[in-house]
Amino acid sequence: MEHTRIKELLQSEDFGKEVIVKGWVRTFRNNQFIAINDGSSMHNIQAVVDFENTDETLLKRITTGASLRIKGSLIESLGKGQRVEIKVEELSILGDSDPEKFPLQPKKHSLEFLREIAHLRFRTGTFNAIFKVRNALSFAVHQFFRERDFVYMHTPIITGSDAEGAGEMFRVTTLDLNNPPRTESGEIDYKEDFFGKSTNLTVSGQLEGELAAMAFGNIYTFGPTFRAENSNTTRHLAEFWMIEPEMAFYELEDNMDLAEDLLKYVIEYALKNCPDEIEFLKNRLLEEEKSKPQNERSEFDLIEKLNFVLDNKFERVTYTEAIEILKRSKPNQKKQFKYLIEEWGADLQSEHERYLVEKHFKKPVILTDYPREIKSFYMKQNAPDANGRQTVRAMDILFPGIGEMVGGSQREEDLEKLLTRMAEVGIPEKEMDWFLDTRRFGSAPHAGFGVGFERLVLFVTGMTNIRDVIPFPRTPKNAEF
Ligand code: 4AD
Ligand code: MG
Repeated sequence: MEHTRIKELLQSEDFGKEVIVKGWVRTFRNNQFIAINDGSSMHNIQAVVDFENTDETLLKRITTGASLRIKGSLIESLGKGQRVEIKVEELSILGDSDPEKFPLQPKKHSLEFLREIAHLRFRTGTFNAIFKVRNALSFAVHQFFRERDFVYMHTPIITGSDAEGAGEMFRVTTLDLNNPPRTESGEIDYKEDFFGKSTNLTVSGQLEGELAAMAFGNIYTFGPTFRAENSNTTRHLAEFWMIEPEMAFYELEDNMDLAEDLLKYVIEYALKNCPDEIEFLKNRLLEEEKSKPQNERSEFDLIEKLNFVLDNKFERVTYTEAIEILKRSKPNQKKQFKYLIEEWGADLQSEHERYLVEKHFKKPVILTDYPREIKSFYMKQNAPDANGRQTVRAMDILFPGIGEMVGGSQREEDLEKLLTRMAEVGIPEKEMDWFLDTRRFGSAPHAGFGVGFERLVLFVTGMTNIRDVIPFPRTPKNAEF
């Protein structure tokens, strides 16, 4: 490789050294100053052209978006804003970029506009920072589990199991939709389909993860999951990445401790390893907030907010306690909630979660012991309380500005209880035989949770729309690129 990455040059003190850089033009000012970026850093390096001795036609081709190769000497910069720059000795265009057609101009573009050109938005400072932070968080997740001797397990993307009940699923089929084979009774005959049965994209790797945990002890998955729920919100994607650890011999408290440790670890990692990116994103957010009225601006800047999470223990509260707080809350009394909390058993909407986290506790909250009826069949059942209320050992971690970041539980390890619950909610035992074997042969207490990776990236970058923290978002009516 003949060239040096710009990140390295920006830190270099080798003044006078001959260097080669390759990158894309961000701006070209006064026929003299080229800001070049090669993606290695959010920051550009400035290259200074001796325009009087440079061919006019070549100068015209130095346009925003063009890629070029520059050979020159690294010198101490006299200008403000940079320490080093390159005095150009040789310049060649590797790929032209027609300034009339290139959609990215050297000015501020809206996030909405950039979403429409997601194939080019990587070339902006904002998206360079976001995806560097995403990259760091992803690495930190693996490092966290590696340090704790967890086994990274790849669970299937295509599955025949539909037992999570997490939402609508995307079907996977090779049948001819115009003329599918039919059974005698007229239904589509999936026996004729590629897998000889009906299959879908996974909504969660948990059930397969449980199988592995019952052999390895501690495992985690980290992969794409798919939900065809028609939720057009700033927090939902149809394709998102989930981190799902599953631990044998863990109970709910151990599960909560691990989840809290994981979140703090990866946030701290990002703060340490992406200081420039997070500083940039902090300033972006401050700038954005200037357009808001004073009372809607946040008390904390991004870095303070992240440190606040690191420094405070997450509040652990039962669902039943949360319902009492919500019932007594101002927005409930004044009927400002869209869904009023009238009685125990109500499912919590995001307005309620946000009230608890942002107004009441003002920090991340772990809600536990939800009513059995609003949670998945596999969660461990508590003994009924004095009022006969039936809860499960569930835990959701709620974050300010995000809502639900983590969903998990201790699992029901008792075969009979699990079978009864499955029958109640209508899950056929036969289809789940493989899963039930964990409870038949050496069943053990175990627990796990799922972290929505994009929601984590949202929190750490201070962005507000989940479409801006995944390279190519899939949402209802949108699967571009
Ligand atoms: O709460 P969920 O549905 O839990 C599960 O799937 C369990 N099987 C996890 C487990 O115990 N192993 O999803 C887990 C997390 C949510 O808390 C949320 O952060 C994220 O996944 N999530 C989504 N993120 C983006 N878009 C969506 N449509 C999401 N649905 C869930
Ligand atoms: Mg959930």
